[in-house]
Amino acid sequence: MRLVFLLLLFIITVFATDDDNSFITKYEYGAMLYENPRGIGCNKCHNNGKKEVIIAKYRDKKGALKYIKVPPLTNISFENFKIKLRADKTESLVMPTYFLTDEELDSLYYYIQKLK
Ligand code: HEC
Repeated sequence: MRLVFLLLLFIITVFATDDDNSFITKYEYGAMLYENPRGIGCNKCHNNGKKEVIIAKYRDKKGALKYIKVPPLTNISFENFKIKLRADKTESLVMPTYFLTDEELDSLYYYIQKLK
């Protein structure tokens, strides 16, 4: 009897996940990567990704006020997203370089699409 119960519990845990057969969903995986992408979390600069964020204000030599702005993430195509995330540091003065796999980029993009 106990064995049957345990077996049932096992089957439920394995099949109860949506989307795919893994223990965490693609969305959960993407959300995890957003905060911990083996580097500085995207959330540290992009916040919740829905709106532009001003991370710094400064004055240039002539005294004009300048801003360092971080764009929202909700309007980018998967193609441009991949280009951006594979670009190395020399292409951006602010955003770090990441070393994410295709699968990770796919989940991260999936998560970002749900931010809307
Ligand atoms: C240190 C701050 C910082 C972190 C951390 C950061 N970004 Fe960015 N991101 C920026 C800034 C600033 C820009 C815009 C200017 C540029 O490209 O440097 C940008 C641009 C982007 C763009 C291009 C948006 C567009 O519409 O052109 C995408 C996509 C993006 N970031 C995704 C991410 C993801 C995903 C992560 C985490 C893996 C991340 N960023 C982490 C600062 C950051």
